[in-house]
Amino acid sequence: MEQTLTEISAAALAEVASASTHPEIDAVRVRYLGKTGEISKISEGMRDVSKEDRPRFGKLLNEVRTAVQSAIDAKVADLQAQADAEGFRNIDVTLPGTPTPEGRLHPVTLLENRVIDVLRRMGFALADGPDIEDEWHCFDALNTPADHPARNEQDTFYLPDGRLLRTQTSTVQVRVMRNEPPPIRIIAPGACYRRDEVDATHLAQFNQLEGLYVDTDVSLADMKSTIEQLVHETFGADTELRFRPHFFPFTEPSYEIDIRLEALGGKWMELAGCGMVDPAVFENINTARGDRAFDPEKVSGFAFGFGIDRLAMILAALPDIRLLTENDVRFLAQFQA
Ligand code: DAH
Repeated sequence: MEQTLTEISAAALAEVASASTHPEIDAVRVRYLGKTGEISKISEGMRDVSKEDRPRFGKLLNEVRTAVQSAIDAKVADLQAQADAEGFRNIDVTLPGTPTPEGRLHPVTLLENRVIDVLRRMGFALADGPDIEDEWHCFDALNTPADHPARNEQDTFYLPDGRLLRTQTSTVQVRVMRNEPPPIRIIAPGACYRRDEVDATHLAQFNQLEGLYVDTDVSLADMKSTIEQLVHETFGADTELRFRPHFFPFTEPSYEIDIRLEALGGKWMELAGCGMVDPAVFENINTARGDRAFDPEKVSGFAFGFGIDRLAMILAALPDIRLLTENDVRFLAQFQA
């Protein structure tokens, strides 16, 4: 039996040596090491080997198996190396490659990222909502009933089923409060739509960044300091800002925020709307949720909404807002991430 084993071993090694393709080497492996292969067959014969010969025979069997297996492994590696070398034969690795043009971030994205970065450090988490909304999320829940004049100012595009393209990211406030109890601290950047005539300063699609903070004892002072810090960190500590009383249906009191930067010609420019969440909004949410999680006697909050495009336009000294959507790489390539 030992004799047979030695012969099998020699035959196997010779076949490995002469194999020159992957299928050939695979056939050798199956023939010798496979389940019904020569070496497996002979190991079944162990039963008939006498007790005293068994350890020696077992050892020999293992040695043969290992030797054949490693010869096969070495051959496979060898064939692979040959194939690789063949593949490289006609490639001149010293030739310069084909350059891939490097993309740049859009000026709106750059500004959005700056604002998000600051607000995240203040503990605000990103939230999201759909561009296609229903009237309830866009208006009714935000205390803007069908006959409210604010609804005319935000004329938008309607789908045949009555849904609409959201006019403001304030819809995300409603979505978050419906789903989560306080405390809430979110920001939501996103696209908004209005039926505006497109010209050098108006687009029918633009970008806002919404913020909402609801908890116990949130005050106007919290809102003011948060926004001041945001403005100073985003545009520089020497940026002047003012809160101008205004009206929004979903906040009370409400303000518009203007900033003034010497670098931007020293003119006041409108940056955002903000205010303390109107108790009527909390009650609309409570009704929709079927609980009192947003009891206006217990929680308070502030919200704000930044217009991103106009600001990006001023920061990049753009003469025409349409440049932001024309997708002209010569324009876009000017902006550094
Ligand atoms: N959604 C308002 C707009 O589009 C902006 C705004 C004002 C958002 C006040 C707010 C806010 O969250 O509190 O004009």
